[in-house]
Amino acid sequence: MRNISKNLIIWYSQFKRDLPWRNTSDPYLIWVSEIILQQTQVDQGISYYFNFIKTFPNIQSLAQANIDEVLNIWQGLGYYSRARNMYHTANVIVNSLNDKFPENFIELKKLKGIGDYTAAAIASFSFKEPIPVVDGNVFRVLSRLYGIFESTQTSNGKKTFYNKALDLIDQKQPDVFNQAMMEFGALQCTPTNPNCNLCIFKSICFAYNRGLISELPLKKQKIKKRERYFYFLHLIYKDTFFIEKRTSQDIWKLLHQFPLIESDSEISIDEIVNHKLWNKIFKNINPKINSNIVKKKHVLSHQIIHANFLKIEVPSTNEFIDKNLINIHLEDLNKYSIPRLIDRYLNDNK
Ligand code: ADE
Repeated sequence: MRNISKNLIIWYSQFKRDLPWRNTSDPYLIWVSEIILQQTQVDQGISYYFNFIKTFPNIQSLAQANIDEVLNIWQGLGYYSRARNMYHTANVIVNSLNDKFPENFIELKKLKGIGDYTAAAIASFSFKEPIPVVDGNVFRVLSRLYGIFESTQTSNGKKTFYNKALDLIDQKQPDVFNQAMMEFGALQCTPTNPNCNLCIFKSICFAYNRGLISELPLKKQKIKKRERYFYFLHLIYKDTFFIEKRTSQDIWKLLHQFPLIESDSEISIDEIVNHKLWNKIFKNINPKINSNIVKKKHVLSHQIIHANFLKIEVPSTNEFIDKNLINIHLEDLNKYSIPRLIDRYLNDNK
């Protein structure tokens, strides 16, 4: 055991990437980096990280910001509930915890948006608490090295991996050990084509020695995704268009979008123009829908959005438009946070 951690740490000191969040033990910076890295690759995460900490260099500045500013910086990363949770937690720390991050795993986990993974990362990287960080990289390394044929999705399976990592963790340098495990999974023991020929664990790796590298870790069970059909009304008046803020407890809460008619199956233009929302927006007129309907499929972790964008020219901005709609010029769009799906559409359909 001890040899494995020792060799892993030596490998890490030789091959690690120089990543900005590795040069700090500030829990705020580590928290920001780990939340960003949960949803994006390191290469893309770096620019989001720099942008975020330039705008909100410390917990106070995040707590004092406006949530719209935070969502704006987050734009493109997806999983906006994570940004909302960070904002909430920053306020809890500033208003109730005297500006100080809790310094251990148990207390960290009490904060909104901080689960096992993030609490372990902050506790070990910032406060050297010997709690293993177990992410997809770590699952892969451990399942191959030790031949663990358990699911990474069940609580029993997760416990097995956690306990294995706990056996291995270097008590004096848990921060370095955890970074090293993740780095080994990211650079050496990769999902496809791992570099087994030049691997320091070649002689002891269970999977390598039995030809089971592509069988481990066990494949995740595919979950059935919810299918949703969105009909966005791109209402155009001269060189302006209309957006509204999403307020419901759903994806994209507090982001801006075109007025939307939603259905759980495909619907016809006839059904759209007879929909109650259509009648609410267009009280007395019946504008024509441009026959060129743009379709985009947007796949999220638990749902698939089949988006249809309907271009509609409207003859005036007052009389008939819903009060919640905001009339804007394209140049002003950067003042609002919008889902990437709509950003992609607008880029192609200015
Ligand atoms: N992925 C998640 N956390 C990471 C970290 N701290 N360094 C590199 N990749 C990561």
